[in-house]
Amino acid sequence: MINFISVKDVPDIDKLVLKALAYKANPFKDLSLGVNKRIGLLFLNPSMRTRLSTQIAAQNLGMEAIVFNVDKDGWALEFEEEAIMSGSTVEHVKDAAPIMGRYFDILAIRTFPGLKNREDDYSELYIKQFIKYAGIPVVSLESATLHPLQSLTDIITIQETITQMPAEPAHKPKIVLTWAPHVKPLPQCVANSFSQWVNAWGKAEFVITHPEDYELDEQFTKGAIITHNQDEALAGADFVYVKNWSTFHDYGRIYCNDPEWMMTNEKLELTNAAKIMHCLPVRRNVELSDEILDGPNSIVTVEASNRVWAAQAVLSAILKQNS
Ligand code: CP
Repeated sequence: MINFISVKDVPDIDKLVLKALAYKANPFKDLSLGVNKRIGLLFLNPSMRTRLSTQIAAQNLGMEAIVFNVDKDGWALEFEEEAIMSGSTVEHVKDAAPIMGRYFDILAIRTFPGLKNREDDYSELYIKQFIKYAGIPVVSLESATLHPLQSLTDIITIQETITQMPAEPAHKPKIVLTWAPHVKPLPQCVANSFSQWVNAWGKAEFVITHPEDYELDEQFTKGAIITHNQDEALAGADFVYVKNWSTFHDYGRIYCNDPEWMMTNEKLELTNAAKIMHCLPVRRNVELSDEILDGPNSIVTVEASNRVWAAQAVLSAILKQNS
């Protein structure tokens, strides 16, 4: 693995999942792998889970992790080629990234989309410019369109949950990605990425449900069954992944915010006692009800705790590739 930007960087998902679960069983088994290596964690946007879990993962491999909150502490970066920098940006990425490439062995970056211009966001300019100019492996900590460390975690969590069942289901698990209401327009990253990974994994019956006009980009969802009927989608589900996203076609908007789309215990009755997942943070009683989050079917805490093992497996694969 050279970079980790999307599922396309992963030659074998199952192998990476097993690697992560092996780290969960024995976190310090590769403590010497990253000795004298350093990772830079660059945040252009807020984070709790991604920041902490990636730091812990690096430390479990013996790496030093340095966090740099570019949004608060850094110079405003310019990403456009040939920009005339007479506005608010102070330093071009083609000047900053090569320096970071000399300070660090791996660079990890979080950059959210602006949600103003779809073409700009979906070009993934920011992360591509870091890859172009840093000259070292780059890991996405969530980019404009994808959140691959979250999605790897989600597959790990689903696989682990299935393995822990008293009897593994004879059928492929039914995984449902359901849209949920929210008060703000949110990126499509988590939903895009989850769809891309579940499709690439190929071990589930995959259904996506959302209100009309919330279609995601087909490049990520192709292969899934898509329906606007949430009850129909939830029928017999083994896993329900709850997430809000803003509109893709008429970009970055909220159309419907129908509270009926919030997952409740009544809706849970339609499922096969489904496990409920969410990447967090979650708006309680807007996206997901208290009764679900505090109930026995929620696996959101174990899901978030598995972020460490996903990050550790990815960093380890990159270190081994480059050693
Ligand atoms: N799920 C996730 O990426 O959480 P943070 O935004 O807190 O990192």
